[in-house]
Amino acid sequence: MDYKKYIAEKIKVAGVSADEIAEAIAIPPNTEMGDYALPCFKFSKVLRQSPVAIAQNLAQSIGTDDVIAEVTALNGYLNFKLNKTGLAEATLDRIESEGAKYGSSDIGSGKTVCIDYSSVNIAKPFHIGHLSTTVIGGALYKIYNFLGYKVVGINHLGDYGTQFGKLICAYKHWGKRAEVEKGGIHAVNDLYVRFNSEATEEMEAEAREYFRLIESGDKEANEIFEWFKSLTLAYVNKIYERLGVKFDSYNGERFYSDKMQPVIDELKEKGLLKVSEGASIVDLEPYSMPPCLILRSDGASLYATRDLAAAYYRKNTYDFYKCLYVVAYQQNLHFKQIFKVLELLGKDWAKDMVHVAYGMVSLEDGAMSTRKGKVVWLEDVINKCVEKAYKVIEDKNPDLENKRDIAEKVGVGSVIFGALYNNKIKDIVFSYDKVLSFDGETGVYCQYTCARANSVLQKAKGMQFKTRKPAELLPQEYEVVKCLASFPETVKDAAEKYEPSYIARYAVDLSQKFNKFYFDCKILTAEEESRGFRVRLTEATLQTLQNALSLLGIGVPDKM
Ligand code: ARG
Repeated sequence: MDYKKYIAEKIKVAGVSADEIAEAIAIPPNTEMGDYALPCFKFSKVLRQSPVAIAQNLAQSIGTDDVIAEVTALNGYLNFKLNKTGLAEATLDRIESEGAKYGSSDIGSGKTVCIDYSSVNIAKPFHIGHLSTTVIGGALYKIYNFLGYKVVGINHLGDYGTQFGKLICAYKHWGKRAEVEKGGIHAVNDLYVRFNSEATEEMEAEAREYFRLIESGDKEANEIFEWFKSLTLAYVNKIYERLGVKFDSYNGERFYSDKMQPVIDELKEKGLLKVSEGASIVDLEPYSMPPCLILRSDGASLYATRDLAAAYYRKNTYDFYKCLYVVAYQQNLHFKQIFKVLELLGKDWAKDMVHVAYGMVSLEDGAMSTRKGKVVWLEDVINKCVEKAYKVIEDKNPDLENKRDIAEKVGVGSVIFGALYNNKIKDIVFSYDKVLSFDGETGVYCQYTCARANSVLQKAKGMQFKTRKPAELLPQEYEVVKCLASFPETVKDAAEKYEPSYIARYAVDLSQKFNKFYFDCKILTAEEESRGFRVRLTEATLQTLQNALSLLGIGVPDKM
């Protein structure tokens, strides 16, 4: 049940809707004050009364019931205490009946969300810089799906540009088929790096010719290009699988190379296309932005041109409710320009386009350097975490079965969680020790909490309980109950703000609350009256933590 809504519906303020009231209801930092609080300052103006008087009047007019145990007014706040056992009963019932679906909803039914994420560049390194877009996009995909939206995951491949001419040229001069086949994307990348440092004038000219050949449909050039593309995709798909992300479309920039003309024509028709120094641009000066470049003076299209064509295509194909672009904040201007141009074209759906910007990831030891091909490959970071996780498991619990599988879940989970834990716009410094800490705010900590809950439940198997209903709740139990009850709301907030970090933080919060309960209160050796309920609370925590982690793409081992 949505308690904010429930409370809001009981509060009548003339001229203010229940939704607005629900919006204003907050969870006080100090539980002693209440479970929910409504600040009454906002209503002073409409009601022409002081907040103190409003709170007092409202407190008197709202009765208690099965859900609301107490209503009090304090300093202009209306404080609500919920019926603790009632809340516990309702929450656990719901988790037990919904299971893996707890937290889901159908608010998105009938709506489609496109998510453009990861969007790798063919034949270029898949490096640590791609971590955030891949896991933030992957998590948003699962979150929106969980809320009933139809989701289209799009990998807008970087597969268009003069660099592919260079690559083919480099391959023709220095490459050997068998070697490239064996070395895969790394070998392709080496060719590119070598071209950039060794290419002669003639080779540069040849490269331009190869690019032209790809464009004009030359068979050989296209075969080589497609081969590089398949090497890249085979490579990244293995990583996607480990990270638990998937795509419904790999339509990249090249896909739009023959779909730009209608956009260009429309820009012309609407008088938006200006010629400036030979190039075609959309002037954005009135909006304090540099012009959006549509065609270079040699007639070549640009990144922005292809993105405009892609936006048209997505609207026509998917009729999206929202179209998200999970791309680094370095491209803020690019997306502002694109969205503005669509608006100038009169597309009312321009307002449904969202740039989900995120910050940079660097490694603690400073190893990240894009200079001359010295990059940190994402795969190496993942492998290192898995290796480290394996060592820790071997240290702590050498007799564990399936150590390799567990290390994979823990290692991969630590990378994902490390990238998702902070507010997405923040730059983060990735530290192996931090993300793998058992007692920090990490994925490992949450996974370990699951293993702990699971071990309690294994021991509880076959036990008989006098009752499974909650008795008078201890504060530690109540904190867990409230946290469990707030999961559905957290999922919705995460979607609304495009912040998977809300769910990562939620998982840590629930783990901390559960661990406090676990250490302070006996479970299996508790008195008969509370034992059954505490086992249920443990079950519900495990289920909810699993649901939360799976929305992030993180698996949960039974044992650790
Ligand atoms: N491939 C681009 C890059 O690596 C990201 C593409 C993002 N998506 C888009 N529709 N522009 O910078």
